[in-house]
Amino acid sequence: MAKAYNFFSCSLFIFFWFISSISLHAEAAVKTYKFDVQVKNVSRLCHAKPIVTVNGMFPGPTIYVREGDRVLVNVTNNAQYNMSIHWHGLKQFRNGWADGPAYITQCPIKTGHSYTYDFNVTGQRGTLWWHAHIFWLRATVHGAIVILPKQGTLFPFPQPDMETNILLGEWWNNDVEEVEKQGNKMGLPPNTSDAHTINGKPGPLFPCSEKHTFAMEVEQGKTYLLRIINAALNDELFFGVDGHNMTVVEIDAVYTKPFTTPAILIAPGQTTNVLVQANRAPGRYFMAARPFMDAPVIVDNKTATAILQYKGVPDTIIPSLPKLPAPNDTSFALNYSTKLRSLNSPQYPANVPLKIDRHLFYTIGLGINPCPTCINGTKLIASLNNITFVMPQIGLLQAHYFNIPGVFITDFPDKPPTPFNYTGAPLTANLGTSQGTRLSRIPFNSTVELVLQDTNLLTVESHPFHLHGYNFFIVGTGVGNFDPAKDPAKYNLVDPPERNTVGVPTGGWAAIRFRADNPGVWFMHCHLELHTGWGLKMAFVVENGKGPNQSVLPPPKDLPPC
Ligand code: C2O
Repeated sequence: MAKAYNFFSCSLFIFFWFISSISLHAEAAVKTYKFDVQVKNVSRLCHAKPIVTVNGMFPGPTIYVREGDRVLVNVTNNAQYNMSIHWHGLKQFRNGWADGPAYITQCPIKTGHSYTYDFNVTGQRGTLWWHAHIFWLRATVHGAIVILPKQGTLFPFPQPDMETNILLGEWWNNDVEEVEKQGNKMGLPPNTSDAHTINGKPGPLFPCSEKHTFAMEVEQGKTYLLRIINAALNDELFFGVDGHNMTVVEIDAVYTKPFTTPAILIAPGQTTNVLVQANRAPGRYFMAARPFMDAPVIVDNKTATAILQYKGVPDTIIPSLPKLPAPNDTSFALNYSTKLRSLNSPQYPANVPLKIDRHLFYTIGLGINPCPTCINGTKLIASLNNITFVMPQIGLLQAHYFNIPGVFITDFPDKPPTPFNYTGAPLTANLGTSQGTRLSRIPFNSTVELVLQDTNLLTVESHPFHLHGYNFFIVGTGVGNFDPAKDPAKYNLVDPPERNTVGVPTGGWAAIRFRADNPGVWFMHCHLELHTGWGLKMAFVVENGKGPNQSVLPPPKDLPPC
């Protein structure tokens, strides 16, 4: 017996040596994609309208790569709007030129022009996504990025039989650019979307949508990996499948400790991979997505549906809806986020910074500013540490790289100008918000802790904050005011969730940590498009290091001019 075991482990060893030597010697592949940004007529909810798409597809094409690959995406803009594309969650080490946010790392690609995004996928595997990063165009210009593990590497969870991308989105019957303009003219939020969608389709709870329903066929006994992406503009969402539990195994392209749940909560910008077993009576089951909103603001409770259909079951069976948490179920949300933990295995360790060089504390505020051109004479704005970010006219990364003066200043304050009871009684006035293109300068390789504190300026609300160029660890979250004397003692410094987008709880705070080892200019903003437009954004300038591979790479020749 022992011998057999030895023989087995020995041949296993040779087998793994063989597999790993293949992958070590395999050249990293180059994957090339062509993105033709074009206008296409699409009909939903009984309306046909022209929308901006990539290659005429809504949602757009999936980028399939393997960890270690180099990716070239040639984008040609044949639409009437300026365009730029962001590869949300890809770290773009030293290579902000391929990051994509308009006027932050590049000038937009003008109509009739092209730009090739050229980047390596290093040290990441899982689900991410790409989207337009200019105005509200990401409503229709987005798609999945699937990064497979290196050849010969298995998932650290039961291997699924099949996988499917589930992109959650929003649909407006009007042109989204008109919707955005209307909001700016009013100085108020524009109309909420007319439907939520799953893979571009609203499902049968909306008019004219029978044929616009996404269906996924499953076989009894098999396991499916769902790669769920929240591509909605302005809504955090609950998602569930009737009668089926989901096992969460990965978030934002980072493996997690698996846990089973009837529903997930996912904020715009985030991704969640779940395993679903087709282990119920053969039938048709609704998958559903519906907003989570526990703040006293406009409630939108439209439900998008899709169908999980067992093979051989007739289409005439009427599915029933999953029981999702109530739209304002704060305790589900808080409880769900405490279940998210990094896998933190020897192969996929959670390298949480333990010693912090720089402590940042940013308050998130809404406010009302005078606006002579607005219908009411005022407009809603948003700020971080009382600063409403003003978009520059040229890319900040160029200004940084070429030392162009007068584009930005690096005096963004590490804490708010005056402390106050952030989450006390609602404050109706703004606190003298100033405007500016103000950035925070971070020395290379320093460790940063940033506490994002929601405030009750006008109203509390939950904000999904996204940082470009990095993943961070969410070491703590809480309700009310962050207490620097007590809260850090409760941090999870062992296996906190690692993400690129964090949901700051309504009237609460989130503490994140990262090591600033990626030089460049990196945008940080609320991923609710409405709030980004109101100025809820800033950027970090991470300085070059002294080592040979520690400075920003030179810009590509075809970088779009302003
Ligand atoms: Cu997904 Cu700056 O965005």
